[in-house]
Amino acid sequence: RELTYFDATESTQQIAHKLAQEGAEEGHVVVANEQTKGKGRLGRVWHSRSNTSISMSMILRPPLPPQKTPQLTLLAAVAVVQAIKKNTGLQCEIKWPNDILLKGKKLVGILTEMQADPDLVHSVIIGIGLNVNQTSEDFGEDIAHLATSLYLEKDGASGQPVDRARLIADILLEFEELYEEYLENGFQSIRPLWESYSISVGTYIYARMIKEVIYGYAKGITDDGVLLVEDESGKTHHIYSADIEI
Ligand code: BTN
Repeated sequence: RELTYFDATESTQQIAHKLAQEGAEEGHVVVANEQTKGKGRLGRVWHSRSNTSISMSMILRPPLPPQKTPQLTLLAAVAVVQAIKKNTGLQCEIKWPNDILLKGKKLVGILTEMQADPDLVHSVIIGIGLNVNQTSEDFGEDIAHLATSLYLEKDGASGQPVDRARLIADILLEFEELYEEYLENGFQSIRPLWESYSISVGTYIYARMIKEVIYGYAKGITDDGVLLVEDESGKTHHIYSADIEI
């Protein structure tokens, strides 16, 4: 298994795309101590600090049709939640599709992108950005109420910093185990785990999309990772991508 490490780079996601184009194998991981131009969902900027964040991107070549790709985001979220639990004892929550929260604040962002090669063997790049050892000063006033780090939530921010290398290793181990299970038995074997960590299922939510907002009861996710929301008229909407407000 290959790992490419950078002390600083613009974006591990960008590097992973390039490596995938050049034929990198499944499982190749790109890790950076610092990103200077981290990419978030929907064209947003992702801030990651030197020595405090985890910034990593994994290259996968799943033998599956591209429409199954959203499932891999859900798999990655489960892997991260489990690795965090193992390393810190903290129980995080998943907000569909790809945010991981701790006490209602954002801790992890996951960005899943696809790349179609000319020979149609597509690759999937899963980027994970994790706030590990930030202090409240690191976040600044404007986002302190929205974001948190493992260090801030563990032992009342008075303990040891969290070991990033161990955490990365555990995320990869957890992911590998889930991915093997998934390739063998399909998403239904992972779904109960995802649902057990999810806070956006079994509750009323706002699904904010580009052109509309749907308010309703989030009934669950399909095997393809699509969120099912029943509005007040009893109609069920299939939500493929949205910002969820609980
Ligand atoms: C989000 O908007 O919540 C997703 C954020 C994803 C950030 C990670 S950090 C590692 C990888 N490299 C990037 O440039 N982005 C992803």
